[in-house]
Amino acid sequence: MKNLAKGITRNHAPHIIIVGGTSGLGLALALHHQTLGWQVSVVGSSAAKIADINSQHPAIVTYVCDLTDPNQTQTLLDNLSGISFQKLIYSAGSYTNERIHHLNQADSDQMLAINLQAFEQVFRWASSQLKQQLKQSCQALDMTKGDRPSLICIASIAGTIEYPYASLYAKSKRAMIATASAYRAALVPYDIQVNCIASGYIDTQALRDLNDGDASHKPFIMSTQAAVNHIMQAIDDDVELAIFPRSMRYITSALNHLPKPVLNWILHSKLDKAK
Ligand SMILES: NC(=O)c1ccc[n+]([C@@H]2O[C@H](COP(=O)([O-])OP(=O)(O)OC[C@H]3O[C@@H](n4cnc5c(N)ncnc54)[C@H](OP(=O)(O)O)[C@@H]3O)[C@@H](O)[C@H]2O)c1
Repeated sequence: MKNLAKGITRNHAPHIIIVGGTSGLGLALALHHQTLGWQVSVVGSSAAKIADINSQHPAIVTYVCDLTDPNQTQTLLDNLSGISFQKLIYSAGSYTNERIHHLNQADSDQMLAINLQAFEQVFRWASSQLKQQLKQSCQALDMTKGDRPSLICIASIAGTIEYPYASLYAKSKRAMIATASAYRAALVPYDIQVNCIASGYIDTQALRDLNDGDASHKPFIMSTQAAVNHIMQAIDDDVELAIFPRSMRYITSALNHLPKPVLNWILHSKLDKAK
């Protein structure tokens, strides 16, 4: 874990914490915020990815933490508690190709821990931090330098469809969508914004790795930059649940209007493994 003092000393710019910000979509969001003048902190478990960021983007503050370990996660959150922030994005996620590989115990434990349990741990901490910061007038002054304080989580379009044969991935992302909605309602009196992102396929290295190096066959796949643009727009417009690309949103909306037996029949063989 990097020296926390580095995060504390450069607090003139608004500060964003991206949990799962060491690769893919999270890293792209980190770099985007950096170009907008934000002070950026990222969290991930891979020492190699952290070393790369430290050498290529030295202004980004990095934290090593394995989110599958609740004690490690708590230590990270305790350490971060001394640092004010205006925005937190939970982009950490775990997915496997359940269509090809049967879900084993290790994948099941990991997916549940990262997509659901650590997410809840982090959102619980982050919401109470933001509430506390708002109470402290000197830190509230910092808030005015950034956007409205906000919590954002990266779910998936897979979580927007309700049907019994959904994968663990889809079910955990569905739970994330419902949890974010509850936080959004709970944080209205504090004027803290909560947005949930439910995107279709994004052409990240992690998705390519799951598809033998090439994910271009995935329907309506978008570039990471296109996804970043959609997400930034959704945050600006304060969209509760941003579902994109539009083509996928129409399809999932149509599927959700089908009679349940028809939906189950279609998805059992087709879309239930969408990441
Ligand atoms: N790519 C898509 O098609 C797609 C579509 C819809 C939604 N999403 C969602 O978007 C998010 C980002 O996906 P991505 O494609 O950009 O994948 P990615 O590059 O693998 O990003 C996942 C991030 O989570 C972190 N992470 C994973 N396990 C962790 C652990 N045990 N402890 C701490 N950090 C951990 C990773 O860091 P370390 O490796 O350093 O641990 C990485 O920073 C995920 O939540 C995913 O479900 C992706």
